[in-house]
Amino acid sequence: MSVGTMGSESLRNAMVDRLAADHVAKGFVLRPEVEAAMRTVPREVYTPGLPVEQAYENEAVITKRRGEETISSVSAPFLIAEMLGQAADALGGLDGRHVLEIGSGGYNASLLRELVGPSGSVTTVDIDPEVTGRAATCLEAAGYTDVTVVCADAEHPIEPGRRYDLIIVTAGAWDVAAAWREQLTDGGVVVVPLRTWGMTRSWALRRSGDRLVSESHRQCGFVSVQGDGAHQVRYVDIAESVHLRLDEGQQLDPAVVAGLLAQPRQEAWAGLSLPPRTMLSDLDLWLATRLTLDVEKFVVLSAQEAAVDSGMVAPSWRFGTPATFHDGTFAYRSALRWTGRRFDLGAYAHGTKAAAEAGRMVGHMRAWVDAGSPSPVLHVLPAHAPDGDLPEGAVLDKRHSRFVLTFTHEKGAL
Ligand SMILES: C[S@@+](CC[C@H](N)C(=O)[O-])C[C@H]1O[C@@H](n2cnc3c(N)ncnc32)[C@H](O)[C@@H]1O
Repeated sequence: MSVGTMGSESLRNAMVDRLAADHVAKGFVLRPEVEAAMRTVPREVYTPGLPVEQAYENEAVITKRRGEETISSVSAPFLIAEMLGQAADALGGLDGRHVLEIGSGGYNASLLRELVGPSGSVTTVDIDPEVTGRAATCLEAAGYTDVTVVCADAEHPIEPGRRYDLIIVTAGAWDVAAAWREQLTDGGVVVVPLRTWGMTRSWALRRSGDRLVSESHRQCGFVSVQGDGAHQVRYVDIAESVHLRLDEGQQLDPAVVAGLLAQPRQEAWAGLSLPPRTMLSDLDLWLATRLTLDVEKFVVLSAQEAAVDSGMVAPSWRFGTPATFHDGTFAYRSALRWTGRRFDLGAYAHGTKAAAEAGRMVGHMRAWVDAGSPSPVLHVLPAHAPDGDLPEGAVLDKRHSRFVLTFTHEKGAL
């Protein structure tokens, strides 16, 4: 099914070519059926008012803001492709599947409609009537008349009594709502961007009884879930344009961290020579689980471009870098140090115990490499699960669930 404008087909194909190359560069496989769907669905129909060239730029298109905050967008195609790939890998294909999409826009729903085929079904839900209204209009315009569009808070059951093979959440969540687990078939999969220790990953979680266990994860960013499941992220500024992201109910007195970056910097290096495709987003979760055990605060640093350009900070990733506050000292994972095509891992620290804290962080990085660079596996159990039922790992108690993060060497589909 395709209703496109003149020239849109070649723009669309060029976008999918770039997206396929991006998958290869990241070491992922773009499944043929996902690629075919993306070559079919006319994205410009879901971005009305935008020049067709921009509709195919492989970026999110913001459709609604509240003040400074983006609250709705048509998601970036590369991210949608990765998440659909996670879903299809976990379920062995999507043909004939019954799918609930949380967070509407129309574009992803039509890709899903292509993927599930005539015997499957797609329901898309959004909390915002303006979004569902636009999604319904656009779906109709593109010829996808067999998608059910619902306006509701997806924290609660949708189409009560129904079970879905796949629930795909396209807003950033902090917890797994009880309704999502309950509305999944046994063996069904929820693909959801979840924030743990201030860092968001899209997890493909398979249901087995009352628990969910991850099969894959991808680094990502999303607009936050609203409604009853909303959970506010808080920021403390450590300097102009440099922020610390606090999660999991953390508190940090701004006066305590103010001025720390102005103190002399100490650095430590792990003395490693790693290849380019090393999964550093896995290392960051490893650091979170280890550092929370032995420092006062594990936080996530984010910085504006100007703060990085001026050399005030040199974080590993300016949108979210593991950082600690301990013993009057601030430390963070630094930008990589390259020698030819290989790199070393390091940490920078400012404060009274700077050398020790940079060294502590680097010690955990070395331990991850020495352990064989294991990948995280997320286990999600109901909030009432007793400690004895939890696998051995780092435990994070949320509102409805108990999260446990373990690490594995089985790379498989990860
Ligand atoms: C990134 S947009 C969705 C993009 C869309 N899937 C697409 O095809 O491009 C995220 C959406 O999630 C919606 N949302 C946030 N919290 C929600 C909730 N509790 N229930 C349902 N929708 C929610 C927002 O209104 C927003 O429109």
